[in-house]
Amino acid sequence: MKIVLIGSGNTATVLGKKMYRCGHTVLQVFSRNLQHATALAEDLNASYTGSLNALSTDADLYVIAVSDTAVESVARQFTTGNKPVVHTAGSVSMEVLKPVSSNYGVLYPLQSLRKDMQRIPEIPFLVNGCTTEIQVLLCDFATSLSSEAKICTDVERLNMHLAAVISSNFTNHLYALTEQFCNHHQLSFDLLIPLIKEVAFRLNEGLAANLQTGPAIRGDEITIKKHMKLLEGDEQLQHVYSLLSQSIQKMYEKK
Ligand SMILES: NC(=O)c1ccc[n+]([C@@H]2O[C@H](COP(=O)([O-])OP(=O)(O)OC[C@H]3O[C@@H](n4cnc5c(N)ncnc54)[C@H](OP(=O)(O)O)[C@@H]3O)[C@@H](O)[C@H]2O)c1
Repeated sequence: MKIVLIGSGNTATVLGKKMYRCGHTVLQVFSRNLQHATALAEDLNASYTGSLNALSTDADLYVIAVSDTAVESVARQFTTGNKPVVHTAGSVSMEVLKPVSSNYGVLYPLQSLRKDMQRIPEIPFLVNGCTTEIQVLLCDFATSLSSEAKICTDVERLNMHLAAVISSNFTNHLYALTEQFCNHHQLSFDLLIPLIKEVAFRLNEGLAANLQTGPAIRGDEITIKKHMKLLEGDEQLQHVYSLLSQSIQKMYEKK
């Protein structure tokens, strides 16, 4: 497919590279920052523009990969007639693209994407379209990039986005808090990496609810009290520790 990419941030960069490597042609990159547009266009062997009025009319698909808060305003600044247009946001309704084209949809990459990632990971796609035809087209396109593509409504995608925030963004925040704790106590965070990897890998073996370990599920109040005392100088981490311990205990309390 011939694609115009609107945006040059983390998602546009990673998806653009994925599309390019999978044999699609990125015709053009738009960014309001011409330096960003040029840099990405160079990587993708594409042309670039800083104006939404100068978008190529030759593409088969227009991909809007700008910040969530900008999708709607960008979508009011150009039209593609009946050429398909998608956005890549988890939490933005597909309907904001109605002014752009009669064929609109969503191509949401369910993955954490960063411009500077060396390796492009597996990216499941949640897809939606305003007609069955566009849903099929987007599913086929997503399948050309990934082994996993699923049609989801706006509500299903928003719920999945929430699930992604909790399971990915929040766990990373716990890593960041732990990193600070280790640094403060001159301990090596790196020593925890085999443990972190093992616990994530174990999810292949069964339900997360059946894999819980630690003092909270054992009801080990003595250890919990010792940990809480150690955290007396760190109100934020102490609060998180207490909240999560209570949450674990609530999940496993005998009815
Ligand atoms: N990163 C992820 O892990 C991830 C995963 C799934 C979905 N998404 C979704 O993908 C979309 C893009 O996210 P991102 O991570 O790529 O964000 P990002 O790295 O912060 O990049 C945002 C892009 O939007 C552009 N932009 C912001 N405001 C704009 C405006 N008013 N007009 C025109 N362009 C504007 C920025 O342009 P400048 O370069 O000029 O600032 C930049 O190119 C979002 O909807 C996000 O929810 C992201």
